[in-house]
Amino acid sequence: MNSEKQRIVGAAPAGASDRESAARAVREMFTSIAPRYDLLNHLLSFNVDRLWWWRTARRFDSILKQPGARVLDLCCGTGDMAFALSHRAGGADVGIFGADFSHAMLQRAMLKANGAARAKETGQAPSLRWIEADALRLPFPDAHFDLVTSAFGFRNLADYDAGLCEIARVLAPNGQCGILDFGEPRGRLLGELYRVYFNKVLPAIGTLVSGVRGPYAYLPASVERFPAPEEMLSRMKQAGFAEASWTPYTMGVAGLYWGAKAK
Ligand SMILES: C[S@@+](CC[C@H](N)C(=O)[O-])C[C@H]1O[C@@H](n2cnc3c(N)ncnc32)[C@H](O)[C@@H]1O
Repeated sequence: MNSEKQRIVGAAPAGASDRESAARAVREMFTSIAPRYDLLNHLLSFNVDRLWWWRTARRFDSILKQPGARVLDLCCGTGDMAFALSHRAGGADVGIFGADFSHAMLQRAMLKANGAARAKETGQAPSLRWIEADALRLPFPDAHFDLVTSAFGFRNLADYDAGLCEIARVLAPNGQCGILDFGEPRGRLLGELYRVYFNKVLPAIGTLVSGVRGPYAYLPASVERFPAPEEMLSRMKQAGFAEASWTPYTMGVAGLYWGAKAK
C-alpha cells in the first residue's frame, strides 16, 4: 500500500483501498440515495427508526433542557435525529447543529426543517443549523459542545478511532455523546430471522426502490464490520471517555452507545 495512504480501520465500501477512497465512496453512496432515503428508512425499519431517534433524544433530556446548551448531531443525513433532539428541547434556548458531508442529504434536512418551521409558524423552536462537514475533521473548536450525537452515521466513518477522538475533542468537560447504530440481535431464532431479513430482503427492496445498486448491499456488510459492543466501549474509553455504556434497543437490532467525558 502507498505509504501516503492510511489503512482503513472503519467502513470499507467495496473497492475502497484507503481512508480517502472509503470516505468518498460513502459520500457518493448517500448522495445517490438521498431522494429516497427517508422513504426507505421508514419502510425497511417498519417505522421503528422514529422510536429509536426519540429514545436517544430522551436519554439526553437533562442536557437538552439546559439553557444555552450546545448540541451537535454528526452524520445528520436528512435530519431526523436533530429534529428529535430539537423536539425534546422544546422551547429551551438550545443551539443544535446538524453536520454531514453529503450536500444532497443536508439539502433534504434543510427542506424538512423549513417545512416544519412554516407549519408551526412560531419561530420559537430551538435554533437548528446545518453544516457541510467531515466528521473526521470538524470545523469546531475544542470543548465546544455539551452533547454530540450520531444516528446510523458513525458506522460509516472510515476510521472509528479518529471519529471517537474527534467527538471527544469537540466535547466540553463533562459533555456526553450518544451513538445510535444497528447491532446483531441476540437469541437464535430472532438472530436467524434478522439475518435473513437484513442480508437478503432489505438489500433487495432497497435496491428496487432506490434504483441504485450497491448502498443497500453495503448496509449489512457495514454492520457486520462494526465492532461488537464490548470492543466499541473499550475504543470509547481509549478515545478519552471516562464512562461508556451500551443500551440495546428492540432486542439488540439497534443500540445506543453512551459516553461521558471526564469533568
Ligand atoms: C445512514 S445515514 C444516517 C442519517 C441520519 N443520521 C439518520 O439517522 O437517518 C449516514 C449519514 O452519515 C453521513 N456520513 C458518513 N460519513 C461521514 C463523514 N465522515 N462525515 C460526515 N458525514 C458522514 C452520510 O453522508 C449519511 O448522510
